[in-house]
Amino acid sequence: MKRVLYTGSFDPITNGHLDLINRASKLCDELVVGVIENKSKIPFFTIEERTGMIEKATKHLKNVKVDSFCGLLADYVNAHNISAVVRGLRATMDFEYEIQMAQMNARLFKKDVETIFLMTSPDYSFISSSMIKEVFSLKGNIKGLVPDVILECMESKLAEKTGGIEK
Ligand code: COA
Repeated sequence: MKRVLYTGSFDPITNGHLDLINRASKLCDELVVGVIENKSKIPFFTIEERTGMIEKATKHLKNVKVDSFCGLLADYVNAHNISAVVRGLRATMDFEYEIQMAQMNARLFKKDVETIFLMTSPDYSFISSSMIKEVFSLKGNIKGLVPDVILECMESKLAEKTGGIEK
């Protein structure tokens, strides 16, 4: 069975991530979306919330499983019989960071595991989770950039943090 891993902090998952998940899920038997705590970022949603949100956004995709973990991506790959890791490339600026990570990970994998890059759809190549959160927090329109179900989660979370949604 070809089990492929797509990781990220997904804080929150966007339509850019979802596009990649849709496309990657067609290339394998099982796609594991792995939510990782990125130590360099202060999260808006807890890891449990992010995992639940991805489950909601991907429930139409039968071969997609959501998991969360901390520590090294390579340790997860080595322990879970992962055949390949998929990453998205949005622009040339992503390339340098991605090649470094892919080459370091290749040293840490215990067997041959490829890192595969998919080009992000041009409709979403300009977005990031931080930009989505910033525009949302300043009451800009992010409809169409995150799944509707995620927009609802963001509204609830903001209400929880501020004690009510400001109109
Ligand atoms: N559409 C929209 N946005 C996208 C996107 C896409 N297709 N692909 C990436 N992005 C956004 C992400 O939302 C993220 O936004 P943010 O910086 O505002 O949060 C940004 O682009 C960067 O994405 P990514 O590089 O995937 O960062 P990440 O924090 O989501 O994930 C990890 C990075 C967790 C995968 C990486 O740090 C990791 O592997 N950590 C594990 C520890 C480890 O093994 N370290 C050694 C590595 S060699």
